[in-house]
Amino acid sequence: MKAIRIHEFGGPEVLKLEDLPDPQPQAGEVLIEIRAASVNPVDYKIREGKYPAVKQDQLPVVLGRDVAGAITALGAEVSGFKEGDEVYAMLPPDRGGYAEKVAAIATAVARKPASLDLIWAASVPLAALTAWQGLFDHGGLHGGQSVLIHGAAGGVGHFAVQFAKAKGAKVFATASGDMKAFVEELGADRAIDYKAERFEDIVHDVDLVYDLIGGETQDRSWQVLKRGGTLICTVQAPDEVKAAEYGVTAKRYTAQPSGEQLREIGNLIDAGKVKVTLDQVFPLAEAAEAERHLEQDHLKGKVVLEIG
Ligand SMILES: NC(=O)c1ccc[n+]([C@@H]2O[C@H](COP(=O)([O-])OP(=O)(O)OC[C@H]3O[C@@H](n4cnc5c(N)ncnc54)[C@H](OP(=O)(O)O)[C@@H]3O)[C@@H](O)[C@H]2O)c1
Repeated sequence: MKAIRIHEFGGPEVLKLEDLPDPQPQAGEVLIEIRAASVNPVDYKIREGKYPAVKQDQLPVVLGRDVAGAITALGAEVSGFKEGDEVYAMLPPDRGGYAEKVAAIATAVARKPASLDLIWAASVPLAALTAWQGLFDHGGLHGGQSVLIHGAAGGVGHFAVQFAKAKGAKVFATASGDMKAFVEELGADRAIDYKAERFEDIVHDVDLVYDLIGGETQDRSWQVLKRGGTLICTVQAPDEVKAAEYGVTAKRYTAQPSGEQLREIGNLIDAGKVKVTLDQVFPLAEAAEAERHLEQDHLKGKVVLEIG
């Protein structure tokens, strides 16, 4: 099979299109013929050697954490799937989606939403699971509460705005200039252009800050939380001293694969309560340009690689 691998950390030039042996599904796994894989910031962070879970001695690795495709073989002890099922999945860091095939752990796999084709379905898993787990499993968000979402126009943020609204929360969301209207279309009660407005002048006493940015944005976020509130971040461990000072709970987390949560998310998509936004689709061979686009340009939603 064709796959994009890295043998060393570095710039886009370290991405190599190679011929690799087809993976074989082990017990508890399904073999997926991949139709599309999405591109996430973790992909270029791994490539650049900036993702602590993938170290030099683990190279070479195939990049890509999201896939959609059809099941072509089942390992032993797999139930609930059959050959030909069209599915989507988030992969753990030791398997790659920038490839024609992958053996995925069956518990991380779900049938794709009926209303999405495989290209669109590929854009969902990692970003949507990250948003779902951040808001609900770690952030404990429920209807009637309020949340400030930083980075709302990107892959994770555009799902987070819609999940929080579907739950019945009041949503404040930051994005840059042109993307403010997009975030309002997603349902945000108040979109904030972070380049023109200071969110701390607008947002007060929220239950949850969902922080996809970190740094100075996080430093300025403590003051908008109510006492007893929660700050959840995907990019850095929050300052425990600040959390104690403001009387809030704060944590960083890492999103985990979950077929069960993908089924719930798929139901919301099929019910029309959550819309997927595709920024751009690239062929597999242009993975380097796809990563450059994600890292450097202003995006609306997700970037996907079309395969096969
Ligand atoms: N811990 C985990 O398990 C986990 C999982 C998924 C993602 N992540 C991390 O979470 C971050 C977000 O991921 P993603 O996939 O959503 O990335 P993305 O698609 O690149 O989106 C990032 C968004 O942040 C916006 N942004 C940049 N600076 C901002 C600021 N100061 N205030 C508000 N918005 C700002 C960008 O908008 P403009 O370009 O218009 O400025 C962009 O829309 C990444 O660092 C990623 O690595 C972690």
